Amino acid sequence: MTTNSLPSPRILMGPGPSSVTPRVLEALGRAPIGYLDPELFTMLDGLRANLRTVYGTSNEWTFPLTGTGMAGMESCLSNLLEPGDKVVIGVIGFFGARMVELARRLGAEVTVVEGEWGGVLDPDEMAKAIQQSGKLKLVGCVHAETSTGVHQPLKHIASMAHEQGALFLADAVTSLGGISVDIDNNEVDVAYSGTQKCVGAPPGLSPVTVSENAFQIVRNRKSRQSHWFFDWNLLQNYYDTPHMYHHTVPVNMLFALNEALLEIVDEGLEERFKRHRDVSAFMLSGLEELGIHPFVKAEHRLPTLNTVVIPESVVDEAAVRARLLQEFGVEIGGGLGALKGKIWRIGTMGASATLRNVLTLLGALKRVLSE
Ligand SMILES: Cc1ncc(COP(=O)(O)O)c(C=O)c1O
Repeated sequence: MTTNSLPSPRILMGPGPSSVTPRVLEALGRAPIGYLDPELFTMLDGLRANLRTVYGTSNEWTFPLTGTGMAGMESCLSNLLEPGDKVVIGVIGFFGARMVELARRLGAEVTVVEGEWGGVLDPDEMAKAIQQSGKLKLVGCVHAETSTGVHQPLKHIASMAHEQGALFLADAVTSLGGISVDIDNNEVDVAYSGTQKCVGAPPGLSPVTVSENAFQIVRNRKSRQSHWFFDWNLLQNYYDTPHMYHHTVPVNMLFALNEALLEIVDEGLEERFKRHRDVSAFMLSGLEELGIHPFVKAEHRLPTLNTVVIPESVVDEAAVRARLLQEFGVEIGGGLGALKGKIWRIGTMGASATLRNVLTLLGALKRVLSE
């Protein structure tokens, strides 16, 4: 690509970003308006209401944070945690490990419960760590572990956290908009996500939801929140009345997210979740025919991010991905960390989750692998 040329069209079937519909792109391209324009706040009211619907929550403090999924993670942890707070984090992949790293940087005392990459957390080990930790502030884990393709159930861990008087935090970056997150029924106190995966907008915003109980704990912090940009008290003064300037929100990304959420509501949540399941199942059966098998047991598989074992016959897996991209415009992802070179990560998320995309990928893969 030369400096001024447009990027080539791509079919995005990696771990994110995923493709964006023309309707969302059109919204992204509208003329910007000011960050204090009353029309922006009218739009934001609707956007936040739809975000609550997609999250499955009545949490008032549900808002689109400026920044990607990592900003969401940092925002949640930096508001919730104070130095010395005790935290239990379940780690079954790369992104759980990031949660640990961020919590430790904030001075929290973190107990890590590690599970096998490719499996879910052991409930007994989580129970032991939660019960043995004394006065516990927070329990956290990743709902959809993008590094392994695992769907981690939340409710049981959330209940255990609450019995111990702790809050429960979930990473919903690869689940929101693709599978049910059901914040209120799953007893999740705080969650963050990203716009670029199953939600159907470009990268750049992180939808965050916070229960009133969790926000009350943040309001009563003993120490000052060290991250000014992420301070929920300051941000609330912008998103809610009195709508005071905090930072120049990326209005075009807000237009795009608003449209993406309207698309989700138009499609219907259950229909959308079914589309993700159906497209994933269709793809996995097509891959089986090519001798490519799933990495994760059926009961723990995510329909949004599919991980498959790279066949032994493939000598240079990066070259296969490069050919898919260069010759067919199809992007798939390689493994992260310990799974590098062992698995491929194939996203069927948001607007990318279509039979047409899957057929293109299967055809392209068949050709590349047969040569
Ligand atoms: C589960 C999970 N958490 C957090 C992140 C970080 O999000 P971002 O890359 O948008 O900052 C990702 C990104 O892939 C993710 O998959």
